[in-house]
Order: sequence, then structure tokens, then C-alpha cells
Amino acid sequence: MIFMAQDKPLKFGVIGAGKIGTFHTRTLANMKGVSLVGVCDPDLMRAQKLAWEHNCTPYSKPEELVGQVDAVIVAAPTQLHHQIGMYCLEHGVHTLVEKPIAVTMQEARDLIQCAKRQGLVLQVGHVERFNPAVVEAVKYIEDPRFITITRQGPYDGRMANISVVLDLMIHDLDLLYTIVPSEVVSIDAVGLSVFSPHEDIANVRLHFANGAVADVTASRASFERARFMHLFQPSGYVSVDFMNARVKTYRKEKPVIENMNDLTVTYPKVEKQLPITAEILHFIDCIKTAKTPAPSGEKGMKALDLALQICEKMNRFDIPKTGHLHTPRPLQAISTVARAAQAVLDETLGHLKGDDK
Ligand SMILES: NC(=O)c1ccc[n+]([C@@H]2O[C@H](COP(=O)([O-])OP(=O)(O)OC[C@H]3O[C@@H](n4cnc5c(N)ncnc54)[C@H](O)[C@@H]3O)[C@@H](O)[C@H]2O)c1
Repeated sequence: MIFMAQDKPLKFGVIGAGKIGTFHTRTLANMKGVSLVGVCDPDLMRAQKLAWEHNCTPYSKPEELVGQVDAVIVAAPTQLHHQIGMYCLEHGVHTLVEKPIAVTMQEARDLIQCAKRQGLVLQVGHVERFNPAVVEAVKYIEDPRFITITRQGPYDGRMANISVVLDLMIHDLDLLYTIVPSEVVSIDAVGLSVFSPHEDIANVRLHFANGAVADVTASRASFERARFMHLFQPSGYVSVDFMNARVKTYRKEKPVIENMNDLTVTYPKVEKQLPITAEILHFIDCIKTAKTPAPSGEKGMKALDLALQICEKMNRFDIPKTGHLHTPRPLQAISTVARAAQAVLDETLGHLKGDDK
């Protein structure tokens, strides 16, 4: 189904009125050229509240909404992406499915094949691609050799049934495939389960066939939110602060660098646009012009493939989650490790005090 620019507003629905579904609904409600038909959630109160706030109709089942729209955003829990996505595509509706595209490779394949068969747009919600800081930073990326990425934030039990690799790190895996023109040839990963039965912290070292190396950490067990990428290449360095949409670069101006003064540092201007708005506008453009979206279902599946390989190869360890709540105890009652550490600190402090004299 191809829409021309002069066509009537695209009729949209949102499936899943949770955290990200709320952002999608709000964005669609304020977007020109869009008619927001409704939001759907089995938690009808939730759908009703969101629908009331944005002047559309609440539904409790996707089946009630799908027949009335041209396009949907699937923002239901990841385990339902396949089932709901397939239903939408089979009923002729363009689909933007949140990341990760699905839980298994077969599910991802089904979605891609169904979209192809039906001649519909299938886009995956790797929204970080639309982060204006990433859009700007890409202009400075020439030949990444070493990349570090950190994405961390507080725990939220909503995601307890999925590894942090599929929840958070997958954003960065998609980005890596966007900026490194090569394939991953080796994976060395560790994962730690802190609160949920799955990994809440993961660290992975990826080697690419072209020699590039990426070190990626994702954590949902941190108080502070932070999302950074630092990228080193022969001509210099590019740093991206995803959260604050900031980019910093330096370029080597001499063959031999004596100190940081031999570098030209820039702070490129970053356009102020919400990534989610850019993502939906891109989806609409792809529907209207029958363009392949970025990321397509295939790119979403590629990121999923890498995420699943990481989970499979990961060295896992657990922090025991059962037992009593922590109550402070005198040092003697703690472990010998803690006592040894305290002894080292005491000695250091003793030296410092001695130095003062
Ligand atoms: N792109 C991003 O940056 C980003 C950020 C957060 C979440 N996500 C993804 O979005 C999805 C949802 O995450 P969330 O944080 O909004 O979760 P959430 O738990 O806040 O919301 C999910 C909602 O889906 C509803 N739901 C359950 N079954 C449903 C069904 N059959 N039909 C319709 N709705 C149903 C739930 O009642 C809930 O309201 C996940 O796949 C997650 O990975 C993406």
C-alpha cells in the first residue's frame, strides 16, 4: 500500500500503553499528517487514561483496533512482538515494532517474511539511530578502531524477564553495525544477575573482521543513568553523550602528538529533535514513499542475532538473591575479605597521618 504526499492523514494506533507506548502516543497525537485512532492495552484503565489524555479511543484487544488503522506501533512486552506484529502485518497494517524485533530468530524471520509478502513497511524501534547526537557524530566517523559504549540506569522490574543484553545493549549492537563496516568475528562476554533471574549487568568485547574492537557495557543495576560512546580512529576521537545529545571530537593536526594542545577539539552543534519524533517521521516517510526503513526488519534481526550469540556465549554469575535483608554488623562479624581490606585502608590512613607530621 503506497501513500502519496497529498493523501489523507495516516490513521495510526498504538498497541501497548505502558512506558514507551505513552511516549509514542503523545508524539503521534502532536504530529501533523497523522490521525491517532486509538491505543490498546489489556489493562483497559491504562488505555483509557492515555486515550483520554490524547483524544483517541481506548481498546483492550489489538483485534479491535487493527481494522481501523493504516499503521501501528507495537509497544507491548517483547515476548508479544511476534504474535501482535504478525497479526498487524497479516491484516495489512504497516508496523513499527519496538526493539528487540522479537525473542527468537525464527520469530524475527516470520515478521520480515510477512511484511515482504504483504508489501508493508516493517521498522524496528532502534531509536538511538535517530538520536541527533548520533546523527551528528556519524559525520566524523571514518575508520573506528576502538569503541567503548556504556549504557546504565536504575533497575525496573518490568524488564525482569529479559536479559539486559536484549533490553538495553541491543541499542548499541545495532549502532555498532551501523558505524563499523564489518562483521563480528569473536565475542567475549560476562553477565551478572543482580536483581532479576537474567543478566542485569553485561560486558562484552567484540572483535570485528576488519580489526576494530568494541567494548560494550550495559547495566540496569546502577543508580545513575549514563549513556556514552567513545570512538578512537587514526585521525582522532569522537565522543557521544546520548542522553544529553552532545558530541565532542578531536582531530590530530600533527603526525606526532606531544600533548593535548596538538589536537583540534570541536563541539559540533547538535540539532534539537526528539529521537522518537524523528523515528516516527521516518516510518511515515517510508510508508508514503515505499522506502525501506532504517532499521529494517533485517537490521533488527541482525542486532537480535548478535544479542542472542552474546547471551549464549556469556560467562554468567549470580549474586544470591534470597536470604535476609542486610543489617549493619560490627566489622569482626563480616568476612575475612572485608577485614583484610579494612586493614589495608587502616595502614594507608596511618601512613597518611604520619606524612602530615
Ligand atoms: N526504544 C526504546 O528506547 C525502548 C524503551 C523502552 C521500552 N522499549 C521496548 O518497548 C516494549 C515495551 O516496553 P515498556 O517499557 O513500555 O513496557 P511496559 O511494561 O511499561 O508496557 C507494556 C504495556 O503492554 C501492555 N500489554 C501487555 N500485553 C498486551 C497485549 N496483548 N496487547 C497490547 N498491550 C499489551 C501492558 O499492559 C503494558 O501496559 C518492550 O519491547 C521494550 O523492549 C523500547
